[in-house]
Amino acid sequence: MFKLGKITFSCPLILAPMSGISDLPFRIINRKFGCEFAFSEMINARSLAKLNVKTFKMLASNAEDRPLGIQLVGSDDFYIHKALENLNAVKFDLLDFNAACPKKKVVSKGAGAYLLKEPKKLNRLLKLIVKTRPDIAVTVKMRLGWENKSLICDLARGAQDAGICAIFIHGRTKAQGYSGKVDYKSIAEVKKAVTIPVIGSGDVFGAGLAKKMLDETGVDAVCIARGALGNPWIFGQTKAFLKKGYMPQHLQVDEVAHVMKEHLKLCIDSYGSLGGVLRFRKFFVWYTRGFSRIKNLREKVMHVKSDKEMFNLIDEFRQTKAQQTSTMARFLLA
Ligand SMILES: Cc1cc2nc3c(=O)[nH]c(=O)nc-3n(C[C@H](O)[C@H](O)[C@H](O)COP(=O)(O)O)c2cc1C
Repeated sequence: MFKLGKITFSCPLILAPMSGISDLPFRIINRKFGCEFAFSEMINARSLAKLNVKTFKMLASNAEDRPLGIQLVGSDDFYIHKALENLNAVKFDLLDFNAACPKKKVVSKGAGAYLLKEPKKLNRLLKLIVKTRPDIAVTVKMRLGWENKSLICDLARGAQDAGICAIFIHGRTKAQGYSGKVDYKSIAEVKKAVTIPVIGSGDVFGAGLAKKMLDETGVDAVCIARGALGNPWIFGQTKAFLKKGYMPQHLQVDEVAHVMKEHLKLCIDSYGSLGGVLRFRKFFVWYTRGFSRIKNLREKVMHVKSDKEMFNLIDEFRQTKAQQTSTMARFLLA
């Protein structure tokens, strides 16, 4: 059993934060398949401080959607403090601070991975968050460094001294982006450097890779990000593999089509008919990855504009009786 603050897990798996992806429908679908803890999309502290309507919509949740982590990104003490005040109206269970995002629009404002270059500032912001919300578990998500990895253990110890309760670590530097393989050795060093739980992130595309991350780094839990795109089954499969050694089986097209429809319905509930369909398009592509002879459907989906058309396209996919030829391919981004 794994614990994060007051949250207990029967299996050490977490659905990672993904901006543009980790909305309520995505979280609910993953929870139905055994995901025990999920994150919101990254929330900009300045927008939240200014009560931006779009930002508040990103915080939409419900009773089924717990325990929930909210991830804040920012670099300004004033806006972070104000954002935390505004979060008083929101129900959630864990607050993560982002020191990992490599996007230009984030790092150019001194936030996300840029804070890895400013350990004192990162430390000050973490202390501010811990002090302002003593009632909630506070964590940080970091990459291994900006360009080199030599400071990561000091950064991790500094974060621990600031009073946070766990560290999420993506085993790549900001400069690496998503290239190369995740660095298990450096994640293992972070784990050894601190006494609080460490959660590893990077390349967990299936049950075997989750076990490899746990075994080779000694982390307390792992985060699943890209591996869950169009693949909520990853949670149940990984649990069964970690607990009983069961190997994941290929999925049947009927089962995948059924879950696609459930996910689409949730998108329509959250965003309305057109909004839901537009949101679901990319998921159609992810759900159908690894199935043979469906290239034409994946091209068609980008032109679908109504819910009826989208449900029909899912039926067309089901009727192809396509075979899943590869499980690994499902887990990789195009
Ligand atoms: C589309 C996308 C959006 C992401 N958005 C966030 C984010 O908002 N906050 C964050 O901390 N990490 C974000 N990440 C990074 C993931 O949480 C994760 O650390 C990274 O993808 C490595 O894990 P993976 O190999 O399992 O995908 C994002 C990743 C992807 C692919």
